[in-house]
Amino acid sequence: METVANSVQLPPLENPNERAAVGAELQAALQDLVDLSLIGKQLHWSVVGAAAHGVHLFLDELVEEWRELADVVAERAVTLGFIPDGQSATVASGSRVDPVQVRSLLDHVVVWELGRRVAAVAERIRARLVPVGAADLVTQEVLTRVVGTLEKQQWLLRVQLGEKA
Ligand SMILES: [Fe+2]
Repeated sequence: METVANSVQLPPLENPNERAAVGAELQAALQDLVDLSLIGKQLHWSVVGAAAHGVHLFLDELVEEWRELADVVAERAVTLGFIPDGQSATVASGSRVDPVQVRSLLDHVVVWELGRRVAAVAERIRARLVPVGAADLVTQEVLTRVVGTLEKQQWLLRVQLGEKA
C-alpha cells in the first residue's frame, strides 16, 4: 500500500512503529469486505427455491452494509496516510474469501455458504483486534465495528437456517 509521503499531519498512534502494520490490517479487511459485497451480489442473482425472494432481498441489505464498512475501513487507511486499493485485481489476488459456484443455488445453501464466509472474515479480523489496538486504538474501534456488524449478520443468517439464537 502506498504511503502518503512527507505529511506532518498524520495522526499519532499508540505505537508509531506499527503504522505500516495497521495499514496492512486495514487493506486486508478492505479486500475481504469488497469481496463479500461481490459474492453477495452473485448469490443475489443465483438463489433459487421457496425462500429465494426473501434471501434475494436480504442479500442486497448485506451487500449495502459490506460496501459501507469497506468505505469506513478504506477511509481510516487514508486517514493514517495509506492509499487503500479496492480495485478488482487487488481484491482478486488478496481476498481470503472463497468464491462461490457460478450456478443456481438453493436458498438454504446460499444462507449456509454465506454464513460460513461471513464468520470466517469476522474471525480473522477479531483475531487481530488486540495487536491492532496496541498500535492504534482508533483503528481497533473501526475494526471492532466491522466485527460487530459481521457477527450480527451471522446471527441473522443462522436463524434463517432454523437454528436457535
Ligand atoms: Fe437486484
